[in-house]
Amino acid sequence: MRKQFFAANWKSHKTLEETKEWLSDIALRVHELSLSQEKEIILCPPFPLLTICHDFIQKHHLPIHLGSQDISPFPDGAYTGEVSGKLLREFVTYTIIGHSERRKYFSETLEQLAQKVQISLSSGIEPIYCVSDKEEKIPEGVQIVAYEPLAAIGSGHPDSPDDAEAVAKLLKEKNNIRYVLYGGSVTAADVASYMQCSSLDGVLVGGASLAPEDFSAIIQHA
Ligand code: PGA
Repeated sequence: MRKQFFAANWKSHKTLEETKEWLSDIALRVHELSLSQEKEIILCPPFPLLTICHDFIQKHHLPIHLGSQDISPFPDGAYTGEVSGKLLREFVTYTIIGHSERRKYFSETLEQLAQKVQISLSSGIEPIYCVSDKEEKIPEGVQIVAYEPLAAIGSGHPDSPDDAEAVAKLLKEKNNIRYVLYGGSVTAADVASYMQCSSLDGVLVGGASLAPEDFSAIIQHA
């Protein structure tokens, strides 16, 4: 069986209390899901919530990996406000790089994104590199790409599985990458249609990852 990724991108949502509730709830649900080894669940909370998520996952032996939503393009040092790969690797296995919201609101350039990929790889963190265009060049060393068409993000209007499959296939043909995830308004109702596509290896879920019942339903219905 091939690997399937289920990444939850909480974006800038949730307080400490809400996070504790989500974790307690998902803990019960993942034990009921009887997950196979091939299903990789990745939780990407805001930075300040990483430690509590990390401790909870360890304590309860949950089959959940952590990811950050970003990483500093610099090593640790005099970079106020940044979170370095050296620190992040104590908590995360993955990091999202180049999400369209970061490109749009924080004017991230391709050069910065390539630096982030370098830092991520040298820190032993697996980048999940987001693109919204099938032509975009993927930095060397990236193994996992998330294809997220802009119109599909947070809109309730997901891309068609056929289109997502065609883009994923092309991305794999043109780049030396291993996995492509689809992201953009994924719900439990349509996750199976993406997972059935031969070039798609998983989903990156925003809105529908905020409620544990919705996120676990996505994993269940894949
Ligand atoms: P969405 O977000 O599922 O709310 O559309 C996906 C993403 O932006 O990663």
